[in-house]
Order: sequence, then structure tokens, then C-alpha cells
Amino acid sequence: MVDLRSDTVTRPTPEMRAAMAEAEVGDDVYGEDPTVNALEAEVAALFGHEAALFAPTGSMANQIALQLLVPPGAELLCDADAHVVTYEVGAAAAYGGISSRTWPAAGADLDPERIAAMIRPDGYHAVPTRAIAVEQTHNRGGGGVIPLATLRELRRIADDAGLALHCDGARIWHAHVADGVPLAHYGELFDTLSVCLSKGLGAPVGSLVVSSAERIARARIIRKRLGGGMRQVGVLAAAGRYAVRHHVDRLAVDHARAARLAEALAPFGVLAGPVRTNIVPLDLTKSALDAPALAAAARSRGVLVSVLGPRTARLVTHYDVDDGGVARAIEVLTAIFRG
Ligand SMILES: Cc1ncc(COP(=O)(O)O)c(C=O)c1O
Repeated sequence: MVDLRSDTVTRPTPEMRAAMAEAEVGDDVYGEDPTVNALEAEVAALFGHEAALFAPTGSMANQIALQLLVPPGAELLCDADAHVVTYEVGAAAAYGGISSRTWPAAGADLDPERIAAMIRPDGYHAVPTRAIAVEQTHNRGGGGVIPLATLRELRRIADDAGLALHCDGARIWHAHVADGVPLAHYGELFDTLSVCLSKGLGAPVGSLVVSSAERIARARIIRKRLGGGMRQVGVLAAAGRYAVRHHVDRLAVDHARAARLAEALAPFGVLAGPVRTNIVPLDLTKSALDAPALAAAARSRGVLVSVLGPRTARLVTHYDVDDGGVARAIEVLTAIFRG
């Protein structure tokens, strides 16, 4: 099978497994796992922040960050398609008492002035706005990359209004590789970031919240409250350290493979937008096939595609799909679209 459903389907490489087997461990709830401590320090330094906290999932890392920035009863502004309000099962409201208000789904195409116009001042009647969250790269926005200049403008708006800025950076590594922006440049713009080790980087599990030392001390308590205090997880942090050292630069290969898929599918009029990173979003509104039919036809020929909606689908490249896999996917998908 050529599995293009998501970059979360990767399996650890033999080298990553060796790093896991050799990891020094301790009890991380006591702060005594040396491999976790090293990973946290290394990732914090990459983003130019004081501290970081290892979390089991990107969803938990996002929710910890949101609870740090938005008190119960106050509001978060984000994109209607953001992962934090689409795929985290209402956690911000359920666990954080956070009210979310969204701007119309725009992917990476942010309009800072439109966001500025949504900000509510404190007041007796109003829900006070406390934070803005953006997603880099944007998952449902087809892997789009928000330009650095736009993020800087958003930072200025947040500063003027006294708001915090969170980045769901599950795939910020991809933005860094696609736009050549140093991770520290992203880091300096956000009060909190969540970054994932288990998407394109290929670790089996793990994310980090990145922020100031004061916030990360509070984040440790929130993580424990959410049931995310873990023990000898150096074995997992070792996979993450390996991934950060060895699997960031190679994302350019995944981006080139996604571009190849997009180029082959463009003549069929099924691309939902430009392909910047490792996600190829498909819009099948003008196609004879809907998304479930496409996925079924592709599966029967050994290619797995993700169905996002009745007429939207997605292909995602990652290190478990090589050039041969991409060639096979192109052969199968172009044959299906040709009918
Ligand atoms: C943009 C984004 N944020 C957060 C997550 C959550 O990650 P997890 O599945 O580890 O909870 C994902 C997962 O795919 C994602 O795409």
C-alpha cells in the first residue's frame, strides 16, 4: 500500500529505534528523565524560548497552551478550520472553559485587519478576547504557509490589544523548510507554540509546548491535571530528539514529492489550491467522482487517500513514501481520473 492519508502514519526507522533502545530514562513526573529534559531544552533553544514541555499529543500541547493564555470565560480567536476548534473534540470549552470565536476559514491566507476587527475589549457584558491562535502550516488549509510578514503584522495587532499569540506549529518544521525562515524567527513572534514530533518528523509520539519558564512551570501542572504526566518516557523523547536532528531538512524531499503529485493531477482540475509543503488538497466538485468513490477506487489499487468531506480529499507525503510510491500513486490516480 502507498499510504498518502497522513504524515502521522510513519513508522520509526531502525536508527530511531536504536536511539529509543539506548535512551537513559528516569521518572519525568519528578523531572528526572534526562532524555526528556534534554529534548525540552533543545527544542526550547531552537525556538529561542526559555523552556518547553513534552506532551503525549499535539492536541494536549495545544490545549495546555490555550489554558495558559485564556482564562475560563474569556475568548480565543482562530480560523474556523483550525485544528484547535475542528479536531480537538471541544477540549478548549470542555476543559478550559474557553469560548472560541472564529474567522471564516482562510487557511494560511490570513487577513490581520479582519482579525483585529474581531477583538473585543474588556467590559461588563462582553466576552473578553485574550488570545489569537494560528496554524503553521495550515492542515485543512492544504499545508499553506503563513508569510513571516503577515505573522509580524498579527504580532503588532496582538501587542496593541494586549493579547497573547499561540501557534499550532504541528508542522512548523515544514514552514521553516519551505520558506527558509529560521525557527527562532517564528519563536520570537509567539507567546506559546505547540510543535509535533509525530507528523512529518516521524517520531511515533510526542509534542512540545514551547514558552517562557514561568508559563512552562504552570504548563506542567495543567499537563498533570489532564492526565499527561508520564514516567520513563525518555524512550519516546529519544525518538523525538533523533527526529529533530535528522528529519527536519529532509522535509524538502517530501515537499518535492507533493509538488510532483500536484503537477500530475493539475490537468484534471482537482487541485484545491497551490501546494507549498507536503499536503496536496483535492477539490472534487467538478470531478465525476466524489471523495469516498475516489478513495475506494484508489484503495482497490493499493493507494490510500484521505477523505475530508463529500468532495474534498487529501494526499500527504512523508518519509514512508519514496519516489517509487509517488510514481505508483500518480499512475493509479491519473488512471482513475481519466476514467
Ligand atoms: C495542525 C495540527 N495540530 C494539532 C494536531 C494534533 O496532533 P495529535 O494528533 O498528536 O493530537 C494535528 C494532527 O494532525 C494537526 O494537524
